[in-house]
Amino acid sequence: MRIVSLSCRDYRNLAPLCFSPKPEGNVLWGQNAQGKTNLLEALWIFTGGRSFRGAKDSELVRHGAAGARLLLSFYSEEREQSAEIRIAGGRRQVLLNGIALHSPGELVGHVYAVIFSPEHLALVRGGPANRRSFMDAALCQMKPGYAGILSRYHRALSQRNALLKDIPRHWELEDTLPIWDARLVQDGERIVSQRKAFLSRLSVFASSVYAGLSHGAESLQIFYHASAPNFADNLQKEHKQDIRQGFTGAGPHRDDMVLQLNDSSARSYASQGQKRSIVLALKLAEAHILEECTGEKPAVLLDDVLSELDSARQDYLLNHLSQYQVFITCCEPQQAMNLHSGGLFRVENGMVTAAGPEKRKGEVYVSSSGTEHGDTK
Ligand SMILES: Nc1ncnc2c1ncn2[C@@H]1O[C@H](COP(=O)(O)OP(=O)(O)OP(=O)(O)O)[C@@H](O)[C@H]1O
Ligand SMILES: [Mg+2]
Repeated sequence: MRIVSLSCRDYRNLAPLCFSPKPEGNVLWGQNAQGKTNLLEALWIFTGGRSFRGAKDSELVRHGAAGARLLLSFYSEEREQSAEIRIAGGRRQVLLNGIALHSPGELVGHVYAVIFSPEHLALVRGGPANRRSFMDAALCQMKPGYAGILSRYHRALSQRNALLKDIPRHWELEDTLPIWDARLVQDGERIVSQRKAFLSRLSVFASSVYAGLSHGAESLQIFYHASAPNFADNLQKEHKQDIRQGFTGAGPHRDDMVLQLNDSSARSYASQGQKRSIVLALKLAEAHILEECTGEKPAVLLDDVLSELDSARQDYLLNHLSQYQVFITCCEPQQAMNLHSGGLFRVENGMVTAAGPEKRKGEVYVSSSGTEHGDTK
């Protein structure tokens, strides 16, 4: 898949623009608060996901405007396609090739991307919910039926939890618990098996990227931690405890993805640069598996990825992205000079222009891989 162009109106601080990226590397550079992350976010929402910054739809509309409109032209499934998103009154309306879709989620499976942003460091630093969302979001892009199974599981879970709270006042309701157990087990076991299969692929690629980033000095291990190794048995055995607590104590909604560096917990022991390297390894591995599953290469969106990485890690990363269409933000374009050939785009006050840094006469920036980065105009 390749992004051909993005136009937008009244999206965050972005000026009405038509951004035509290169098929290879795209460096989006500019000072703080100019619109670099907003531009990546505008591309990302075409994957059918929510804002990776957790923003509400109403926050995506320029202050004071009634609604925002985004138009993406992309090449996928061997043809040029278009998608349009209109956001107004807290609602999102989506058109694919001119035809209105029932829900924004139906865009999943048309535009593929993986995103790294500093918020994703919570994947290592934060609690298990972050890691479950990573697995679930990746599987939703890869497996068409997964989102439906997941939402049915969560619906059944909240109904079971409501029942658990009612039982102490109406003990006769306890007899209906097995009905909800059966519903949870049916979808829960499918969720766990898909997540485990995903992690076993993920760990192969992520460990290899991580070994490259750390120049073989450290090894990353990833495995699935089930809160209830036998979900069906556990649900039945824990009826009394679940009633006492008023919620379902174990199951896929409490499971975790364990990340270890050299056999120690990454959450407890990894340094800032190591945490960033782990998240990057996970994201690049996700891109690889996404391509295996869909036959399409996702766009790789990297927001502020280079800070906290030493120059050896930066070089490894920038030299290993050449198979993807990459969008990378930074404040100083020299930081990303090792990125494979492509375009330099300056982001300033919401405007995006094809431009490299100011050059003295005759000066050309050349990366260590030999790529010339001059003015792309
Ligand atoms: N709905 C909105 N309407 C108008 N402006 C907005 C809206 N949402 C965010 N902004 C503004 O957009 C500006 C650019 O934000 P963005 O996060 O894209 O900056 P950035 O270039 O990535 O900066 P940094 O280098 O600090 O990460 C900010 O000043 C922010 O306040
Ligand atoms: Mg930013």
